[in-house]
Amino acid sequence: MNAVEARDLVKEFSGKRTVRALDGVSIDVRPGSILGLLGPNGAGKTTVVRILSTVLVPDAGHARVLGHDVVREADIVRRLIGLAGQYAAVDENLTGRENLRMVGRLTHLPKKITLERSDTLLEQFGLSDAANRTLKTYSGGMRRRLDLAAALVGRPPILFLDEPTTGLDPQSRQDLWVVIEGLVRAGTTVLLTTQYLEEADRLADRIVVVDHGRVIAEGTPAELKADLGTTVISLTVPDSATARSVAAILSPLAPRPPVIDDATVELTVEEAPRVAAEALRALDQHGVTVVGLTLREPSLDDVFLRLTGHRAEEVAEVASGATSSDEGGTPSHDREGRR
Ligand SMILES: Nc1ncnc2c1ncn2[C@@H]1O[C@H](COP(=O)(O)OP(=O)(O)OP(=O)(O)O)[C@@H](O)[C@H]1O
Ligand SMILES: [Mg+2]
Repeated sequence: MNAVEARDLVKEFSGKRTVRALDGVSIDVRPGSILGLLGPNGAGKTTVVRILSTVLVPDAGHARVLGHDVVREADIVRRLIGLAGQYAAVDENLTGRENLRMVGRLTHLPKKITLERSDTLLEQFGLSDAANRTLKTYSGGMRRRLDLAAALVGRPPILFLDEPTTGLDPQSRQDLWVVIEGLVRAGTTVLLTTQYLEEADRLADRIVVVDHGRVIAEGTPAELKADLGTTVISLTVPDSATARSVAAILSPLAPRPPVIDDATVELTVEEAPRVAAEALRALDQHGVTVVGLTLREPSLDDVFLRLTGHRAEEVAEVASGATSSDEGGTPSHDREGRR
């Protein structure tokens, strides 16, 4: 049995304009694993989490947590889950310790157990020294850790983490990753939403990519990246006209068409050092000046660009009503999701 199972979830929000936030999303989370739900702003990630945590009722489809229906058995489901992240239910005016104790009271834990667990969690998350300070004085990283601690007071077997590290500095992000990994080692099942491929890559056993309320790809991190190639070679040339001819010259060197972004041409390849050397030789032969060359791991943006034909931040702009210029010459993309 899957720890979490959602089938064909549909959710619309009506306002000035009806938004179909979820348009048939299905996910499975195996017991003791981390599923990364990856997608840009407005993709529907929080809506999935809110349905699974019984805050919202889906318009169609159904979902189960440890076999219990999130609508018909919402009370049972609530006792099985912990929720941390975007819409955290912590109180700014209470101290760290008071917040954890309040969670214990709200979940009807015996007082003695609440006190013990609160202190253990504060210790475990490096918050003992700040335990008696109000949250107003906490840094972003401390807040996220307290928020996660609050979700753990009830020792839930299932944890929903909605963008747990968004806005954190790299060190705080790493620290939180270590904490989450520890929880999973101890048997917790985690559904984590994120906008960062790097985060999903590090933590998730499987990734489901959502965009516009639909699943557009899924697989292990290795599968998703293998689909792209392992390294992105990014070449900057003097202007966008040159970039277009460079793309034509370099096209035979990569399995997929180069992506042009203004005066930059990107190739996603397996053997970056060899291809980069070949590319430079070819451009030299054609008398093209290369202004910059970088190699990097594929990012969420690259995954998105391949899957949807637009970059993640453009999706966000479109979603928020801004106009986006048409990327003429965008190569055709494989829209078929992975199994
Ligand atoms: N209560 C609501 N009323 C109206 N529209 C909503 C509501 N909640 C979500 N939406 C819309 O549904 C879509 C999906 O939103 P959701 O919050 O699930 O996205 P998300 O993937 O969590 O995005 P983000 O990364 O920004 O948190 C968006 O277009 C959003 O504007
Ligand atoms: Mg969200």
